[in-house]
Formats: sequence, C-alpha cells, structure tokens
Amino acid sequence: MDLTYRPRRLRRSPALRSMVRENYLSASDFIYPMFVHETNEIEPIRAMPGANRWSLNGLVREVERAWNLGIRCVVLFPKVNESLKSEDGSECFNPDGLIPRAIRLIKKELPQMTVMTDVALDPYSCDGHDGIVDSDGVVLNDETIEQLCRQAVVQADAGADLIGPSDMMDGRVGAIREALDDDGYEHVGIISYTAKYSSAYYGPFREALDSAPRLTSNKPIPKDKSTYQMDPANSREAITEAQLDEQEGADILMVKPGLAYLDIIYRLREESQLPIAAYNVSGEYAMVKAAAERGWIDERSVVLETLLSFKRSGADLILTYHACDAAAWLNNDE
Ligand code: PBG
Repeated sequence: MDLTYRPRRLRRSPALRSMVRENYLSASDFIYPMFVHETNEIEPIRAMPGANRWSLNGLVREVERAWNLGIRCVVLFPKVNESLKSEDGSECFNPDGLIPRAIRLIKKELPQMTVMTDVALDPYSCDGHDGIVDSDGVVLNDETIEQLCRQAVVQADAGADLIGPSDMMDGRVGAIREALDDDGYEHVGIISYTAKYSSAYYGPFREALDSAPRLTSNKPIPKDKSTYQMDPANSREAITEAQLDEQEGADILMVKPGLAYLDIIYRLREESQLPIAAYNVSGEYAMVKAAAERGWIDERSVVLETLLSFKRSGADLILTYHACDAAAWLNNDE
C-alpha cells in the first residue's frame, strides 16, 4: 500500500513509545482517602477489599507507608460513634473529635505530609445527610453552612492543609474561605467538591462510615441526596458550579465520581485554569476489586489504565483507594 501516514511507526518499540507518550502517572498525583474510627482495631471494610477503618495508631503507620511510597496527600474520613451523632451534626466541630485528633497525630509524626479533610455533616448526622434536615425533610442550606464553617476552622486549627467541602450546599466555598481568613488560616487551601453528582457509586463508602440516609424518627428523611448533589444527566451545570467555586475562592476543583464523568473533567479542564482533581470513588474501586478477585480482569493493568484515563482527560490529581498499590507498581516500573 502507498501510505503517507503510518502511525504504527512510532509504536514499534518501547523506546519510541516512551518518547511520544503524552501522559504519565506519578505517586505525587495521588490523594489517598483513609477511614479512621475510635477503636484500637484495624477493621477491614467488607465492600472495599484492601481498605480498612484504621485506629489512630494504625492510621499514622499507614500514612508513613504512603509517604515512603511517594504519596504526598491523604484525606481523612471518620466513622463516628452512633452516640455522638445528632440532627445538627455538631460533633463535626468538636476540637477533640476523631478527625482533629487524627490530624494532630499525623502532623506531629509526619509534618511534611499534606492533610486534606472532608467538610460535610453526614458522618455526624443521625439522619445521614450532608446538611441539617428540617421537620419537613428539607436539607437546609444556610443553617448547614454555619456548621460547616465551624467544622473547617476546627480542622484548620488542628493542622489541616486542604479543606474539602463535599456537602454541595450553595455558597459554602465563599463562606468557608471567609471563616478561615477571619481566624487567621488564610494559608489553608480549599479543594472543593465542585461537580459532585448524586451517584450510586458511593455505596461502599456509606457502608464504611455507616453514613447512608436513614429514618430514625417520624421526620421524612429524603432517601437520596438529589436535592443538593448534581443530576447525573447534567454537564453544563458543572461549569456553573466551577465558576461559582472559583469566584468564591476555591484553590482546586474536584469532579466526583471519576470514571463515569471523564467528560466533566475534560470540560472543567477547558474552562478553568485551576488544578482539577478526580475522585475515583468507592464503587469504582469495589467493581475492580470484585472482578480481580474472580480472576476476570488483571488488577494492576486495569487500575493503572483507569488512573491514566483521569490524567488524559485533564485531571492533575486523583483521589483513589488504589493509591498505595498504584504507587508501588509505578516504583517497580522504574
Ligand atoms: C460525604 C462524602 C461521600 C463521599 C465522600 N464524601 C459520600 C456521599 O456524598 O454520600 C464518597 C466517596 C466514595 O464513594 O468513595 N459528603
């Protein structure tokens, strides 16, 4: 055949392929989500094989392992004792609560590690919602934001580097920015869950924290989060959310879930100059683990290919429960 272009010319050898490779994964791209609970046990999470609820001491050892693998940021989620949960989730700003204690311990043992936190009421709410639910079943916006601001300040005071509002209340980024600045935490960043969709992929996470919406009284509790998290059918709306978060002072924008929303990552990358993070969520992790356990897919190849797809679509950072495994695989490749 008389072909002018033969793209295969540049695929002939590993050396040629590496010369024209457009995207790379590195351990410093990863943010490692970790669960912590009050007990001294390290407890495996049923629907997330390989992930655990860590004791405080176990957490610090695991953060150290992550650091040694090249990971530079962890994000912490608490499994809060039922007795501490309430309708207004006010345990979220207890300065001696589980998360502030965990942050202090990590910052004492490993001050160089970046610590990110999650800001929302769901782990602390007896109703399992990210905000306060009123007697009609409405998730209140402005009242919730007052709680979130107090939560963010307590986390910053404990030493958090990046505050991650995951609640999807309107105006929370600006309010949290102002609260942090007012208390002298102008150096603490905000990584906003900008385009967070109302997704079935969060199932294993809610099991890990026992934080799914539930009925505890006669109050009509909405069974899902669709009055505040985004409709999976929408993409233009993600741009509106991104513009608002930028105006309100977000430092990093996040898209969540990741894999089913690569188009959203791509669109935000086109629209914004801020760093973009993708959250490879619990349900995405569980699917890969389940298929790998059955020998139906090759875990290492599938995980690295998936993580690379986030980079290719425009993400700079990836929150992933595969972080340590992936970092170890990348180190062995060198
Ligand atoms: C809570 C929160 C959720 C996740 C992160 N923060 C769950 C939810 O919104 O119900 C999900 C993470 C995952 O599934 O891995 N605000």
